[in-house]
Amino acid sequence: MTPPSARTDQAPRNQAPSNQAQAELWNARAGETWVAQQAMLDRLFLPLEELLADSVRPTGARDVLDIGCGAGATTLAVAQALAPDGQCTGLDISVPLIEAARRRAAETGVATQFLAGDAQNYSFARGSFDWIVSRFGVMFFDQPEWAFANLRGAVRDGAGLTMITWRDPAENPFMTAGERAAAPLLPQLTPSDPDAPGQFAFADPDKVRRILANGWRETGIKPVDIACALPAGDLRTYIMNMGRVGVLLPDLDDRTRASVSAALTAAFDPFISNGVARFSLACWLVTARAA
Ligand SMILES: C[S@@+](CC[C@H](N)C(=O)[O-])C[C@H]1O[C@@H](n2cnc3c(N)ncnc32)[C@H](O)[C@@H]1O
Repeated sequence: MTPPSARTDQAPRNQAPSNQAQAELWNARAGETWVAQQAMLDRLFLPLEELLADSVRPTGARDVLDIGCGAGATTLAVAQALAPDGQCTGLDISVPLIEAARRRAAETGVATQFLAGDAQNYSFARGSFDWIVSRFGVMFFDQPEWAFANLRGAVRDGAGLTMITWRDPAENPFMTAGERAAAPLLPQLTPSDPDAPGQFAFADPDKVRRILANGWRETGIKPVDIACALPAGDLRTYIMNMGRVGVLLPDLDDRTRASVSAALTAAFDPFISNGVARFSLACWLVTARAA
């Protein structure tokens, strides 16, 4: 199926494909895990939240859309950066995460709006936004060309796009250590397909340029390397809960789970020194303008 022309059409909701598998994943264990671990994840990814907020602050944007906003950390940070003249709306396919984001916004008192829906086929009012941001929320589309054509319809001409995605797995040894260690013990952990929706689906910059060619211009793709530190206690929580291995662990029998746990401990041990895991995140900062 060919995506609509992003210059003239918004992807019609009833024709745009939906992300059934990702909707199921993020509305079940993956979404619940992100809700439960949000405080730890926000500490871990704080430098990227600041990067997004700092990049949008000087733009004068008034209506920002945060794609795959999760529990809303970046939506709130961008809203705070643009207050009082600008605002930020978070959109996510996961109802548990959107509910967590709404609770959090109510607690902080920052004016934001959160929408539950699939960015690939959400019926945005045309031209509602003048900037789009995302921290790791755009790599999960079955049909990324459709998704970015739909997003083009959601923004005004000349609107900006600033999103953070992962570089290649080989450049992210911390992020891939768990799967590497667990794979020999878990036959169900099939190798990731770089073209399927998933963490590293936007690792290839040429692919990202192709996706954005329909309706976006001035695409910039810049590497950013973020030094991170995670206390050993948080690291344990991280490796036992997150990612494809974390999704599988609760369903394993006790013996296999213990073997995987031991393999994970050994794999992450080299990152720990003096009770703190230190590592670098290899990301892309992708920018573009709506044509
Ligand atoms: C890796 S998490 C990042 C969450 C958040 N941006 C953060 O940095 O904390 C990816 C997010 O994308 C959301 N997501 C996946 N597919 C989506 C889609 N088609 N439309 C909207 N959100 C989606 C997931 O529910 C999840 O919250």
